[in-house]
Amino acid sequence: MRRPLIAGNWKMNGTKADAEELIRSIIAGVFEMRKVDVAVCPPFPYLFIAEQMLAGTAIGWGSQDVSREEGGAFTGQVSAAMLKDFGCRYAIVGHSERRQFNGETDAIIGRKYAQAMASGVVPILCVGETLEEREQGKTEEVVASHIDGVLNLAGVEAYGHGVVAYEPVWAIGTGVTATPDQAQEVHAFLRERIANKNKEIAEGLRILYGGSMKPGNAAELIGQPDIDGGLIGGASLKAADFVAICQAGEDNA
Ligand code: PGA
Repeated sequence: MRRPLIAGNWKMNGTKADAEELIRSIIAGVFEMRKVDVAVCPPFPYLFIAEQMLAGTAIGWGSQDVSREEGGAFTGQVSAAMLKDFGCRYAIVGHSERRQFNGETDAIIGRKYAQAMASGVVPILCVGETLEEREQGKTEEVVASHIDGVLNLAGVEAYGHGVVAYEPVWAIGTGVTATPDQAQEVHAFLRERIANKNKEIAEGLRILYGGSMKPGNAAELIGQPDIDGGLIGGASLKAADFVAICQAGEDNA
């Protein structure tokens, strides 16, 4: 049985004071949950707040990106080893906003995934199609290529050390959520693709859904057989909403 994971992707939002307040409320809200893994991914400068406030709690923290390089002359980048040093359990890689605004390709993202893994940080690989790609019937082709980026570089074993998040681009920040059936179909496809290489790794892999997940739809989405939690954007900035989604994960465990 896969343990659900609910991770908050704060993106580039909030102040130091907001981060403290949000983390304080989340600690209080999820305190008694035992069956769900919870994590927050604040902007880089606020990682130290997460480290200070969350050390000793069951809540993990992670970054929203990581360098594909190990270290050295790469101005502005943050290495996986540095994240590990900050106690990060997770690193989001390949978010569609980075694919779109930072020109990240599957090859680059594969290297980021491998860097995180090598440092003992769990990569959360985001995959997902745009609306245009869905309408052209290309959903499976697109998410397969996102999955294969890591498979080609690091082999199927890499999926024994990471998490996948299916995030249809048309559902991110739009208020439009994939229906539970639509999401389940893609999750099952992703798991099957990895199962073709290694069944056991596929069975153990957590595949999260992301894209306008909120308290009102979380339970039904997480209730699907191949949906193992959520990567939450907008709703992760509101403590009450995020805690309610964590509760849905706890109840579905
Ligand atoms: P959203 O974002 O929940 O605001 O749609 C999800 C994400 O981008 O990870």
